[in-house]
Amino acid sequence: MKGVVLAGGKGSRLYPLTKITNKHLLPVYDKPMIYYPIQTLVDAGVRDILVVTGGGNAGDFLRLLANGKEFGLTHLNFTYQEGEGGIADALGLAQHFAEGDRLCVVLGDNILEKPIKVAVDAFRQQERGARILLKEVTDAERFGVAEMDGDKIVGIEEKPEKPKSNYAVTGIYMYDETVWDKIKTLVPSGRGELEITDVNNAYIAEGAMEFSYIDGWWTDAGTFDSLLRASRLVAETGAGE
Ligand code: DAU
Repeated sequence: MKGVVLAGGKGSRLYPLTKITNKHLLPVYDKPMIYYPIQTLVDAGVRDILVVTGGGNAGDFLRLLANGKEFGLTHLNFTYQEGEGGIADALGLAQHFAEGDRLCVVLGDNILEKPIKVAVDAFRQQERGARILLKEVTDAERFGVAEMDGDKIVGIEEKPEKPKSNYAVTGIYMYDETVWDKIKTLVPSGRGELEITDVNNAYIAEGAMEFSYIDGWWTDAGTFDSLLRASRLVAETGAGE
């Protein structure tokens, strides 16, 4: 399985912090934000990793990460997203890298307390389809939200005003090789982006979506409040431990 970290986008919710740098280079306690999703993949046994970035500071990722020595890697791959066409647009750039392999995708602003190896291993055993990670939250309207029927996911709504559950769809997605055909059918949403939620709903429609729950805390870091919360959580308990 290969790994992809998505670190493009404008980071406009963090302006002016993101006026002269990329969101994923900002500090979360004692490390740049991008370190956490890379470590999450490495800890799950994924060592062939592509970083998708964009904007005016893409070269800084290469200077910062080099060949991934700090993560025990000997090589890292990089690619560039032109514009901010959405998470699924950024993922589409990974097709060449995937070479038909399965993928574990982590959003560049998602930080977890505990390793996700058990879920990634479950996906390794899965015959086909996709697997997402859910986390119970108190502010589900900020996220993609899973609609559950017993122990099945029947749909996902992106930032619904009235969430149908308290289960956020976190930014960790595992996909088989059919993801590329699904991305090709997408049309931009109301916010002008190719939505990862539409990709996930396509797997649900095929009856090919599995899920696991996240153990320990999980947070994004794309708003002032969640960036502060991420730093506090890492300082208090550490990440990926
Ligand atoms: O954090 C989990 C949530 O992430 C999910 O619950 C949502 O379903 C999903 O849509 C996403 O929501 P956000 O609105 O928080 O996503 P955001 O636009 O902040 O993008 C998250 C990361 O994805 C960002 O840190 C970098 C990457 N990205 C995003 C865009 C829009 C790209 O690489 N390229 C892009 O064009």
